[in-house]
Amino acid sequence: MHLHRYEKWWITFGIGSLVLFLIIVGIGAFHQGHQPPSSVKTINYEQVDKVTPFNEPGLTKVSGKDWDYELVVVASAFMYMPAEVEIPVGSTVKIIATTKDVVHGYGVTGTNINMMLEPGYISEYVTTMDKIGEYLVVCNEYCGTGHHTMKMMYKVVD
Ligand code: CUA
Repeated sequence: MHLHRYEKWWITFGIGSLVLFLIIVGIGAFHQGHQPPSSVKTINYEQVDKVTPFNEPGLTKVSGKDWDYELVVVASAFMYMPAEVEIPVGSTVKIIATTKDVVHGYGVTGTNINMMLEPGYISEYVTTMDKIGEYLVVCNEYCGTGHHTMKMMYKVVD
């Protein structure tokens, strides 16, 4: 078969465009990895209850770190463990959270804390609670029939 010069040119242009498109898509999808940036640590979500520190959810005082407390949270349909926590005002807290089942949200109202908890990943966030008050934590990822009942309370106390 004889190809006209212009036909060859258009075939080359077409293939070239496709290759360029795939490269752009490839770079866009992979250059930051598949995980959200806050969730680079992994965990077997079926074993969450048996793995440290998630076997003991709650607030723990720590020393020698850039934060004063570690708050370990386990989310599941449709609750958070612990359901309530008292945090001394002015404390810097590292939240360490994961889920035992499906994707849940972790939004602390009145703050800029808003994490996504994905099965298999550990989400972390360091924050300073410097205002006394009660802060409701809500799930902002639809996770099933009890989604709207999923909450936790931070009590920042003097
Ligand atoms: Cu958990 Cu919505």
